[in-house]
Amino acid sequence: MKVGVIGVGHVGLVTAASMADLGHEVVGMDDDATKVATLNRGEIPFYEEELAELVTATMTSGLLRITGDAAEAVAGADVVFICVGTPAREDGSPNLSYVQAAAAAVAAHATGPVVVVEKSTVPVRTGERLRHALNLESQARGGGVHHEVVSNPEFTKEGTAVADTLRPDRIVVGADSDRAHEIMRALYQPLLDRYHCPYVATDVRTAELIKHASNAFLATKISFINAVARICEITGADVQTVADAMGHDPRIGRAFLNAGPGYGGSCFPKDVQAFIHIAAELGYDFGILRETDRTNREARQWPVTQVRRLLWNLDGKQVAVLGVAFKAGTDDIRDSVALEVIDGLRAEGAHVRLHDPVALDHVRARYPDANFCDKAEEALNGAHAVIVCTEWDEYRAITPERLAELLEYPIVVDARNIWPHAGLTGAGLTVASVGSPLVQVPGA
Ligand SMILES: NC(=O)c1ccc[n+]([C@@H]2O[C@H](COP(=O)([O-])OP(=O)(O)OC[C@H]3O[C@@H](n4cnc5c(N)ncnc54)[C@H](O)[C@@H]3O)[C@@H](O)[C@H]2O)c1
Repeated sequence: MKVGVIGVGHVGLVTAASMADLGHEVVGMDDDATKVATLNRGEIPFYEEELAELVTATMTSGLLRITGDAAEAVAGADVVFICVGTPAREDGSPNLSYVQAAAAAVAAHATGPVVVVEKSTVPVRTGERLRHALNLESQARGGGVHHEVVSNPEFTKEGTAVADTLRPDRIVVGADSDRAHEIMRALYQPLLDRYHCPYVATDVRTAELIKHASNAFLATKISFINAVARICEITGADVQTVADAMGHDPRIGRAFLNAGPGYGGSCFPKDVQAFIHIAAELGYDFGILRETDRTNREARQWPVTQVRRLLWNLDGKQVAVLGVAFKAGTDDIRDSVALEVIDGLRAEGAHVRLHDPVALDHVRARYPDANFCDKAEEALNGAHAVIVCTEWDEYRAITPERLAELLEYPIVVDARNIWPHAGLTGAGLTVASVGSPLVQVPGA
């Protein structure tokens, strides 16, 4: 099949390369000329496991092309995926203007009826708006072409996006006609032949809701365990054992029960906000989600609150921050908790020493006076405290004894629980680990 992909960012590039890998003829289009040029030079504009190999292979085979010209991606296409951003506005509602602009490009360049696929995360009932916008634009151009709108939400995780796409735990397709369902099924058949997974065929509204409900549920799990962590810190219970034992119950499951510095990234914060917002517009007060969001904002304050409690005044202190990416496995810093931590430290006069194995380049311009360290040990050496913001495996390899040797003051704020609490305290370090008993500091 001929497939167009509008927006070749984190989701779009993986979608385009995966569709090409399945044997479809794919043209990926982006209005960011720098990104298009980078990709056509054979480079990937962001860090994502396995993606460079997949993009290179599919571009070399000729099944994937990248362009800045919407006409190339749309003309003659059977299916066009919309993979543009849907960032939050000030009031929490998603900004759907990029989605509408992409739809306008489809209407402008389509040479026949196209199945337009919402891959971007959008609120329920966006499909109807999109179909209406497409038809308006089509009519305005004097054409009577009838485009179908399908919702095919994306469930991949940054860091494992290629594996998640080629070996998905489910494919959800929402369409309101048999024809659109048949086309989408044909599109995915080569994948289903290779890898068996549930294929959920439903209507557009249900598919849209599945995505927001899934992300909101995962975010709620995180906030729930972070709330439990606060109780553990006060009572002396251990949140990781609580989570492990809870997780043995298959009705609960262990995933997403890692207490930490709250969720960040480009999806959960904005998707929770968007779901609260669309629910309110529909007349429903989604109180659970408002609390999820509030608990998360509180969790994001935890690292700086702890370092302040343990160090007292931050003015003039050297604080090592390990990890700036919003999670391990990616260089994405969008809405990363680390940024809030660094901003908080700097606002109180601390000097930050930053390390991240892949994401440092994205924060150099933002923090021109920070100390950027090539090695984690360089950041730790002589620091008055360390805060772990991202759970990179390489940090786990640093022993408590080595930490004690390197740090000027033996203060560790482990916001990701990467080091065993007992090991740290055993090495004589003063520690705040999420969800472990909080050490009392004289006067604090
Ligand atoms: N990042 C993820 O892991 C993930 C997972 C699931 C869902 N999503 C959703 O997918 C959508 C895209 O997210 P992303 O992380 O890929 O964003 P991104 O910012 O990495 O990519 C979006 C791309 O769209 C391009 N673009 C914007 N408007 C355009 C237009 N009119 N024409 C052509 N190109 C245009 C941008 O230049 C950019 O390259 C969002 O709705 C997001 O919520 C993301």
